[in-house]
Amino acid sequence: MAFPQQFMDELMARSDIVDVVGTYVPLVSKGGSYWGCCPFHSEKTPSFHVLQDKQIYYCFGCKKGGGVVNFVMEEENLSFPEAVRFLAKRAGMEVPEDETDREAGRYRQRLLDLNREAARFYYQTLQQPEGQGVRDYLERRKISRPTAVKFGMGASPDSWDALLLAMTKKGYSKRELLDAGLVVQNKNGRLYDKFRNRLMLPVIDTRGDVVAFGSRVLDRSEPKYMNSSETPVYSKRRVLYGLNLAKKTKRPNIILCEGNLDIVTLHQAGFDNAVASMGTALTVEQTRLLSRFTKELVLCYDNDNAGKIATERALQILNNSEFSVKVLQLPRRLVDGEYVKQDADDFIKFQGPDAFERLLSGSENGVEFRMAQVAAKYDLSDDEARIAYCAEVSELLSSLPGAVEREVYTVRAAELARITPEAMKLEVQRSFKRRSARERRAELRRDLNPAASLQPKERALRYENLRSARAEEGVLRLLLLDEGLFPPQAPLREDEFSSPLLGKVFSLLWQAHSQGRSVSLNALTGVLTPEEMSHITSVCQQPESARNGARALADYINIIRREAEKRAGGDIDPLLAATEKYKDKKGTGGKQS
Ligand code: CTP
Ligand code: MN
Repeated sequence: MAFPQQFMDELMARSDIVDVVGTYVPLVSKGGSYWGCCPFHSEKTPSFHVLQDKQIYYCFGCKKGGGVVNFVMEEENLSFPEAVRFLAKRAGMEVPEDETDREAGRYRQRLLDLNREAARFYYQTLQQPEGQGVRDYLERRKISRPTAVKFGMGASPDSWDALLLAMTKKGYSKRELLDAGLVVQNKNGRLYDKFRNRLMLPVIDTRGDVVAFGSRVLDRSEPKYMNSSETPVYSKRRVLYGLNLAKKTKRPNIILCEGNLDIVTLHQAGFDNAVASMGTALTVEQTRLLSRFTKELVLCYDNDNAGKIATERALQILNNSEFSVKVLQLPRRLVDGEYVKQDADDFIKFQGPDAFERLLSGSENGVEFRMAQVAAKYDLSDDEARIAYCAEVSELLSSLPGAVEREVYTVRAAELARITPEAMKLEVQRSFKRRSARERRAELRRDLNPAASLQPKERALRYENLRSARAEEGVLRLLLLDEGLFPPQAPLREDEFSSPLLGKVFSLLWQAHSQGRSVSLNALTGVLTPEEMSHITSVCQQPESARNGARALADYINIIRREAEKRAGGDIDPLLAATEKYKDKKGTGGKQS
């Protein structure tokens, strides 16, 4: 997706970063730049920095940064083109669309229209005689008619081509039906309906578009659930079932479950804040989506082993996020002297909404869940196991950031292990000291080796040659600081840079300069990933003086050349080689864009 450069330049000129960021984050002007509390991680003292002259932001805490488009992408959870459109709307500018984009947009809309028509078709089928089977099923599951309507439920007929025929009649092509995942093709090329004789559950995104379908069989046959495959309008990583409804809840949090019908039952019982990840592990994209609607999550996965693993995984993803996270543990149910698994749907049916409300208000935080996980590993009637339990749980307790929290859970762990709180406290303190010593040593290593702190946060971007990388960073800073420093001929080749990322940025800046475009970080947003952009921003916000800039630039270039030569094993004249190669590149037009 490429927007015309002139349009982007004007958009950037009309989207001052201080104005844009200022509508989300209160900023205080201090010493020529602006500071605020970072919107991307939770903090009480401002480490979020906005530089008006460079039109960039950078957080010293979470190390996220970039230009105004990056900010909007991150804050509004948008892709690059979406963020550009968002800013254009704000600036009252019309977005020039090229024909292929417009075509792709129209096609997406066509698939969304088709999905909506299909949902309508399934919905109507549910009301007709053929819908009897699904109506009976809904009754067995105690799903009321208003609930079914609210979720737009439907029935797919017990037929190989009912939907295919109905949609074809409405003017949709075979290709469109295949692309929307509503129809599949067998080996002989024959098309048939993907969903047959099933309860249909449209998946509706937060904009209200039908993006996919989930479905359930009416008996015990397999597969129990069948969902749309990924399509141009559906990426399951980015959608949560029920969020279209839950986003309007008045409750303070959002409950996350595994299954579609758990959500249906919960909403029917008055918990209109429930959403489901539809059987898959929680993704980062889903947490970003959720963060637009709530700051408090309640994990309510099934109480079997798979559910516990899913909970642990979700806690890891949510660790250090801005969410406060609780875990609602459903009890197992006693049936004929045996405890059986329960999900939210079962629990509501057997214990009722009030019992669920009590669990919800009493649900544990992540610490309690983890402590219970540790305790479950040991047979605490055995002395040796008790000792091992104390060692493991004290490691966990010592990692808690708050002193009060540490104290509270230490006492609880002591009770469980039947030792005195004092003994447990000692154990936690020992563990705490070991941990701090470890952290101090690591910090010291970093201090003694300042180069290490220069390494990008993202592992994939790590520098191979720090001496060269530092000089490479210097070159970029200088060129961004003062466009007058660009020499008449490219002073370096991209492959002389030891860091592929810094080399790429250099090429992009050089290209912009030689085409007479504005040389700024903003010009890189569409080309670099958010992680790359964050790193480049951290590089560029470091101080660099423009005084003696030409001299400094020449020094940096020398270092980079010498290091490149060393890498090449080099007895060739680097200057000569450089100019030869550069001519080559120019001759073949071999620059990447
Ligand atoms: N799931 C799926 N495909 C399967 C099984 C499950 O996509 N073959 C997803 C569905 O979204 C389902 C969720 O995983 O809702 C949880 O699955 P499971 O616990 O097996 O089913 P329940 O939600 O308990 O389904 P039900 O109560 O209808 O039996
Ligand atoms: Mn169930």
